[in-house]
Amino acid sequence: MGRSGAGKTSMRSLIFSNYTANDTRRLGATIDVEHSTVQFMGDLNLNIWDCGGQHKYLDNYLNEQKENIFGNVEVLIYVFDLETAHREGEYSLYDECLVNLATYSKDAKVYCLVHKMDKIPDQESKDNMVEMYRRALAKRSDLFKPEVFGTSIWDNTLYHAWSQIVHRLVPNMAVIERHLRNFQRLTEAAEVVLFERATFLVVCQMAADPNVQLNKYMSVSQAIKYYRNSCIQVQSPFQSLEIRNKSFSLFIEPFTKSTYILVVTVDREIEPAVTKANITTAREHFN
Ligand code: GTP
Repeated sequence: MGRSGAGKTSMRSLIFSNYTANDTRRLGATIDVEHSTVQFMGDLNLNIWDCGGQHKYLDNYLNEQKENIFGNVEVLIYVFDLETAHREGEYSLYDECLVNLATYSKDAKVYCLVHKMDKIPDQESKDNMVEMYRRALAKRSDLFKPEVFGTSIWDNTLYHAWSQIVHRLVPNMAVIERHLRNFQRLTEAAEVVLFERATFLVVCQMAADPNVQLNKYMSVSQAIKYYRNSCIQVQSPFQSLEIRNKSFSLFIEPFTKSTYILVVTVDREIEPAVTKANITTAREHFN
């Protein structure tokens, strides 16, 4: 949900349809609601409703169609265009959406994306902008406690936000986390990350050292997706990746039918062949 031109269809096309950021310039305005169902993590069906943001449609969602639009919602993603000239009007529209959400789907989770962050040049101003939205939105929504992210289709921030969103939607995440922790411990890997196969979103990550920042892998999602698209263009599908240097070895391998796994080892005594054999052995268990 969000005003026309905020970037809703662009982000959906990047994450779920292999568009590049440049491709989104060709997108037209969404007519009414575009429904799509994407398969995620194998047998999880994500029903995405991309609600066109032109006035006539918004009026319709908030009046005639409110039960249809706001009923049965698991997650509402509200996209704010940070360049808007009418921030207060934007907030009131958001308020109206939350009133309806409270009526028809009070257990939904709300994510707010402050979008087009690339338009702000420096990191400090970006942080201030997100903080401003965070404070303003926290004051407004007492039932829903929205999580706020700054995003842009031009960098990995979009993958960061969407990884958090889908992390919540995968029903058996606790089980996956437990098994991945065991895998990391048994293989003595420094870091292990599970990516969803189609979107390359991070679904789960583990590090031997709890102080390690794993956010860096959101950049891997974006890089691999671009690389994979380039591979398709030269008709040589992406299969796996291996990087070895003096301080670490990194492997990205197809894992279960719906995931890729990334494993980083730093112990030079662990032979790469052993790590690969461990991945092969674990594959059956995780499947
Ligand atoms: P409606 O379908 O009318 O509701 O609009 P929408 O919210 O789906 O907007 P859409 O995705 O069509 O994007 C509108 C324009 O914004 C496109 O030209 C995109 O290229 C551009 N855009 C989307 N995301 C970003 C971003 O992160 N940064 C910048 N600079 N432009 C973006």
